[in-house]
Amino acid sequence: MQEKKNIVLIGFMATGKSSVAHLLAKRLNKRVVSTDSLIEKKSKKTIPQIFKQDGEIRFRELEIQVVKKVSEMKNIIVDCGGGVVLNKINIDRLKKNGIIILLTAKPEEILKRENKEKGARPLLSKKEKLKVIKELLNFRKPFYEGSCDYKINTSKLSIEEVGEKIIKIYNAKENKKF
Ligand code: S3P
Repeated sequence: MQEKKNIVLIGFMATGKSSVAHLLAKRLNKRVVSTDSLIEKKSKKTIPQIFKQDGEIRFRELEIQVVKKVSEMKNIIVDCGGGVVLNKINIDRLKKNGIIILLTAKPEEILKRENKEKGARPLLSKKEKLKVIKELLNFRKPFYEGSCDYKINTSKLSIEEVGEKIIKIYNAKENKKF
């Protein structure tokens, strides 16, 4: 029997990757692996500490190392940090055994969700958050669009609705193999 593909969630910060990943894990009886959590475990530092003490470039190095490991795992849900697309090697590796699903949302919606989460996101810790979000999104758009197999605009969807869409995609893909 062929190995089951990983479901790899990519997308900008606060587009719902982690919540959707956990919902999918429950529904599909799979494990969630978060690249950010592995980076924190490996470095024994939080993400903000890494950015502050070692800089973003060091963070990206750790991210590449962790993504390499994750890409070798099977039958998991991968919750990727929003910047994995910035290094093509990450996507090349994740694609080998994964379906890459991009979650998108409008900048205003991202801001709303970010404020609600009160997440520790060094890249969004600046004052003019909406402006920063728009600028980063603008710069990253081609990276996100060029990396994904499927794209879901989550702006008007609940976590459950996003999960449903992904399960449909996943089942259709898996069933095609036989
Ligand atoms: C980042 C996204 C974060 C985390 C780090 C950098 C980014 O993950 O990896 O703060 O560059 O977009 P989330 O997308 O889970 O917030």
